[in-house]
Amino acid sequence: MVFFVVLIGFLSMGATSDVVKIKLNNGDEMPVIALGTYLGFNENGIVQSRDHFLRNVILNAIDEGYRHFDTASIYETEGEIGEAVVMKIDEGVVKRSDVFITTKLWNTNHERDSVTMALRKTLLKMGLDYVDLFLMHWPIALNEDYTYSDVDYLDTWRGMEDAQRLGLTRSIGVSNFNKEQIERLLQECSIRPVALQIEVHPQIVQQDLVEYAQNKGLVVMGYSPFGSLVKRHGLEMSGPKMDDPTLMDIAKKYSKTTPQVVLRWLVDRNIVPVAKTVNSTRIKENINIFDFKLTEEEIFKINNFNEFKRYTLPSFWQNHKYYPFEKVANPLPNPFVKK
Ligand SMILES: NC(=O)c1ccc[n+]([C@@H]2O[C@H](COP(=O)([O-])OP(=O)(O)OC[C@H]3O[C@@H](n4cnc5c(N)ncnc54)[C@H](OP(=O)(O)O)[C@@H]3O)[C@@H](O)[C@H]2O)c1
Repeated sequence: MVFFVVLIGFLSMGATSDVVKIKLNNGDEMPVIALGTYLGFNENGIVQSRDHFLRNVILNAIDEGYRHFDTASIYETEGEIGEAVVMKIDEGVVKRSDVFITTKLWNTNHERDSVTMALRKTLLKMGLDYVDLFLMHWPIALNEDYTYSDVDYLDTWRGMEDAQRLGLTRSIGVSNFNKEQIERLLQECSIRPVALQIEVHPQIVQQDLVEYAQNKGLVVMGYSPFGSLVKRHGLEMSGPKMDDPTLMDIAKKYSKTTPQVVLRWLVDRNIVPVAKTVNSTRIKENINIFDFKLTEEEIFKINNFNEFKRYTLPSFWQNHKYYPFEKVANPLPNPFVKK
């Protein structure tokens, strides 16, 4: 499978910027960096944006050249992303077709008929007619009360196909599926998934799954790209940090920062990074990665950090029939269920 990366120049706010795009297996094109919009989880649940905070982040990101936004029904950020995109369309800064919006179906909406209903609710929140990519967030179906549901992700996929046929989304794909689950889906689907979104950073390189998916014509999107370079849940993690000597050497060579090197490591593996920041300096920094390229040797050096470490590991679901990851001895308590 050959992937085409095309540079598309366009005029924005009077300045010329370049958005690099990757071709999907249905002919559409996806901008090669997505701004992540999950604001995290605290003792009160999902962190909410207040006083249009996230909307303003997105407005700024559009001005800085971002054209791809990653959200999900469970992040509760869909509304503010839609609001910002509509504002920028009204201002004449972008057309709807310039912006690529990825969102995700939550696990409690896996019944075939619930899929289109869920996406219609999302579109209503966003004030948009369609999204560009609708992903099944997990292969795991849950009931409203978060008990396990036995709905097969193949039935859910039929609902995803319905959503695409109705024009509610231009493309469909999956997230957090393992190889066997993708294989089973590819055998049974009528519409092929265009993308797989999984965790990818120096501590989880995912070489086998990435190669498998790319060979089947799926674009891989890598979430949590900074891995241990940044704090997770407010805590320092073991693993390479911002000042890691290997990353610093590469960064110095290209006059870049180590987060930029890590993002470029994904891009050079044909992976679309999904990087979250709400900080205006880091918004600029993270998109400024399209004027250099790592060598094979540098990619290999970063691959060597691999230790199969996941920061998204919902082991509280590990007894579900369709749990996609390896099981652990001591599963985490379920944050979605009230004690
Ligand atoms: N499909 C899934 O199941 C799934 C799971 C997890 C995440 N995701 C998606 O992937 C996105 C990104 O994942 P993530 O938020 O876990 O991890 P991430 O993007 O690797 O890291 C985000 C953290 O890095 C900081 N940061 C960003 N750029 C930086 C830079 N240049 N220098 C220093 N610090 C920087 C951010 O802080 P500031 O905001 O303060 O800059 C934030 O604390 C999410 O927002 C979501 O859209 C999807």
